[in-house]
Amino acid sequence: MRIGIPAEIRPGETRVAATPETVKKLAARHQVLVGAGAGIKASIPDAAYEAAGATIVDAATALGADMVLKVRSPDSAERAQMRAGTVLVGMLNPFDTENLAAMASSGLTAFALEAAPRISRAQSMDVLSSQANIAGYKAVMLAANTYGRFMPMLMTAAGTVKAARVLIMGVGVAGLQAIATAKRLGAVIEASDVRPPVKEQVESLGAKFIDVPFLTDEEREIAKGSGGYARSMPADWMRRQAELVHERAKLADIIITTALIPGRKAPVLIAEETVQAMKPGSVIVDMAVEQGGNCPLTELGRTVIKHGVHIIGEPNLAALVAADASALYARNVLDFLKLVIDKDDKFIIDREDEIVRATLVCADGAVLRT
Ligand code: NAI
Repeated sequence: MRIGIPAEIRPGETRVAATPETVKKLAARHQVLVGAGAGIKASIPDAAYEAAGATIVDAATALGADMVLKVRSPDSAERAQMRAGTVLVGMLNPFDTENLAAMASSGLTAFALEAAPRISRAQSMDVLSSQANIAGYKAVMLAANTYGRFMPMLMTAAGTVKAARVLIMGVGVAGLQAIATAKRLGAVIEASDVRPPVKEQVESLGAKFIDVPFLTDEEREIAKGSGGYARSMPADWMRRQAELVHERAKLADIIITTALIPGRKAPVLIAEETVQAMKPGSVIVDMAVEQGGNCPLTELGRTVIKHGVHIIGEPNLAALVAADASALYARNVLDFLKLVIDKDDKFIIDREDEIVRATLVCADGAVLRT
């Protein structure tokens, strides 16, 4: 099979879908065509891909392969260079119905890796986890960089400096890494989530859990989420959470929000009045900015100062750690390919496999997901 890895062209996208490590494994059995400069932003020169067994080609040749590995969905110009029947693997955003329809009408057989179920067999190909982990780390780095004070408590001859207080809203993969990273920097951390099992995870990382008690069976039931993901909580619980968060936010120096509900607009957790009540110079990193943001004052792709608070709306934090984000993503992709390439090195669709079934979003000109 000819496997193409084109350079990503979306603004701000620095990652690449294969690294010399994964190319070496693929090139042992396939012809690997890497777009010139595909790895440059992730510090991978073309020569490293060539040494791993790839041929460096132009974008059209990489997109014209039998199978194309990408980070993000192809745009219309890229789709025009792909043939009907091409197998596409990437983070294709399974909730973007317009894009799915466009890929289907281009005749692509497309696998959206974000749609893999959260089961243990899928862990090694879980792109949401590998990238959210990096994003959680980078969110703390950006916050620390913007914050005009120290993170750890310091006792010096010139006096004592207090440790920064960090509040993490939403403790999935990104939130857990944000807690761990802020902890390593010496911050004092509090965290909040809707899902009850998170409390123990937060406490095991040395942070304090902000409990918003459930008052009804309905609240308790919705908070369990579905498939490991959160669901939208009833308005009354959200109001009680907001009241509590408002009080904690007044004391916080840094807030990192990661709260998401798959396929929905992100919940608003930090209202404007809460930002107003925060200390001047404090920092919010709104990791949910691409889904509408957890704070209504966040601006996509910008850092703004509102009511004296720095609000960071960087949409693609993992891309700011391009080399490691690419390395982990490329391994996720390689592991996924084991499910769709048989022992004779041919492409197969095993619809009995629940990971294949869940990730296959377009085939034979049709969208397979609504
Ligand atoms: P996510 O990115 O979809 O959401 C981030 C966090 O926001 C979640 O913890 C969610 O509960 C929280 N959230 C949503 N609404 C909220 C609200 N109103 N207030 C406060 N917090 C709110 O989550 P992510 O990181 O994708 O993790 C989802 C689940 O998948 C978790 O249970 C995680 O443990 C699980 N998981 C399972 C894996 C497996 O293979 N078994 C691998 C990775 C994650």
